[in-house]
Amino acid sequence: MVVSSDKLTDSEKRTQLVRGFIFACGESTEAECLTRMLFGTDRTYGPVVIRIREGDLLFLNNLDTDNLQGVFRATTDGGFNIEPKAWKGRYPYQVRVESLGSQITIDNAARILKRFGITRNTPLHSKRLVALLDLFSESPSLTDLMADFDAMESRRLILEEKERINNWSGPIDIDEEIPILEATTFWDFPRQSYGSTPKGDNKYAGVTPALIIYNLIWRYTAPGDLVVDPMCGSGTTIDVCKEEKRKAIGYDINPVRPDIIQNDARKIPLENDSVDMVFIDSPYGDNVRYNDHPDNIGNISSESEKFYDELEKVMSESHRILKEGKALGWLIGDQWVKQRFTPVGFMIYNRLCKYFEPVDIICVSRRGQSSHTGPWFNRARRFNFYLRGFKYLIIVRKTTQRATSSEARKIEWTYYKRR
Ligand SMILES: C[S@@+](CC[C@H](N)C(=O)[O-])C[C@H]1O[C@@H](n2cnc3c(N)ncnc32)[C@H](O)[C@@H]1O
Repeated sequence: MVVSSDKLTDSEKRTQLVRGFIFACGESTEAECLTRMLFGTDRTYGPVVIRIREGDLLFLNNLDTDNLQGVFRATTDGGFNIEPKAWKGRYPYQVRVESLGSQITIDNAARILKRFGITRNTPLHSKRLVALLDLFSESPSLTDLMADFDAMESRRLILEEKERINNWSGPIDIDEEIPILEATTFWDFPRQSYGSTPKGDNKYAGVTPALIIYNLIWRYTAPGDLVVDPMCGSGTTIDVCKEEKRKAIGYDINPVRPDIIQNDARKIPLENDSVDMVFIDSPYGDNVRYNDHPDNIGNISSESEKFYDELEKVMSESHRILKEGKALGWLIGDQWVKQRFTPVGFMIYNRLCKYFEPVDIICVSRRGQSSHTGPWFNRARRFNFYLRGFKYLIIVRKTTQRATSSEARKIEWTYYKRR
């Protein structure tokens, strides 16, 4: 399908930054991309796709033949399941495309992308995008085909896009790098936030690293799903969900922003089975002074059973509102104070298992702790205790069909040689 550039109005063209994105395909999937004029990917690059908007420029990298096809333009915003049956449902993060004139294919894609420092999660804009477009508008195959009207038209449309990009003087509203999902059970985030907008308030005591929530919602929800945070503090969950195109409801006993609803997490005003994911970064005891509200669970010591009894009420409510099969992530840390260790994480895990089926446990590196200073490191060595270096992210799932069998499953392990 060859189209002209007059689909977007002139004012629309002027009011948005043009960004460029790379899609990948293989020999077995390329034809479907081009006949449907639809590009798709799985969850891995879902966060990239949902940031694409109509008018952005796209390129198709065939990994098997090592070529790059272009130039395409998005005719819709990136979305989820635009065509649920495409690629038998394997690539549900999709965007519709049109071709700018006739398609041009460039060889040695891997080398070119490497030279330009382009990966699938580093969107292009400004000079780098123009440089890539140069390859397409100056392609030898194109000069050979100067007599071909389609080729001439491609060149004209690409030049028009380059002009649009060069003339842009507004803000750059795309992240330089879109975070890729964590693959192991050890997560370490140097910064509290990601992207160009704040997520929560990094001055809020006990604020959650935003990439924890980002990873959870990308693993356990789809765009449009409802995520609830019953103890949402400075609102990190709400901000991450907004950016990642999920719906969110955030409650706190002591709201600090107008979009957070005042509520006690032990009684959540939502219907049974109505929520797609719950995230909770609860108090870990009474080590942080969040507020003086009488119902603040953060005023109860984690050395007392009452602390776990109260949090169990939050677990039971979270279980009630979650839909069958849906996940809950609970962030929690242990305590060591005045010569006594309290395994808060294990205690919370035990209580959670009364309601939920375990999915996994992630070890999250503790950064930015006020005790992570030279004098404290010295004290820890001298007085023989450890500073808290990690938190647990306990992931569980609501299910009525919990595995009860204690019989070991038969597993065929592959034993790899040690390198
Ligand atoms: C670790 S903080 C949450 C941080 C939050 N995720 C953020 O990124 O800003 C724990 C929160 O639990 C809230 N809280 C304590 N008791 C509560 C209760 N009974 N109901 C609802 N929220 C409560 C506190 O006010 C505090 O904001």
